[in-house]
Amino acid sequence: MEQLFTNVLLKFREIKAEIRDPESLLLKTAELLKSEIPHYDWVGFYLLDPQNSMLILGPYKGAPTDHTHIPVGKGICGQVAASGHPMIIQDVTRQDNYLACSLDVQSEIVVPIFKSGLFVAEIDIDSHAFAPFTIADENLLEAIAKQLSEIF
Ligand code: SME
Repeated sequence: MEQLFTNVLLKFREIKAEIRDPESLLLKTAELLKSEIPHYDWVGFYLLDPQNSMLILGPYKGAPTDHTHIPVGKGICGQVAASGHPMIIQDVTRQDNYLACSLDVQSEIVVPIFKSGLFVAEIDIDSHAFAPFTIADENLLEAIAKQLSEIF
């Protein structure tokens, strides 16, 4: 798994060096993560609208979701926007403040993206597997989040 994550990070760096348009880069990153990592079933980005304290769905790969606008504080995504800390939920049925996208989803990881110390967006990943996430997922996604910071 460690080798897979190292390869994914290398591929991400290649994509980032090639793609200048921010929307395209986010979409390609979502595609890369979903296609390369077996327990990533939905990968997307939520972008903060600071005026309305709202997360707006950006580029994603996976099934369409009803949750295109999420108030800060609501669901896992909204909690990460409010706290600025990543969240790993290994069993979504044990989370009260959770917005379900599909009954297939069993677990979720959300990692914030900061620009000049301010929360601007987040990477959201749903998995159909139970408790699949480790610190390696968090490390990979934080490395990607750091490098995406400059496009915001
Ligand atoms: N489950 C998320 C909502 C977004 S979907 O996963 C795409 C949440 O609780 O915030």
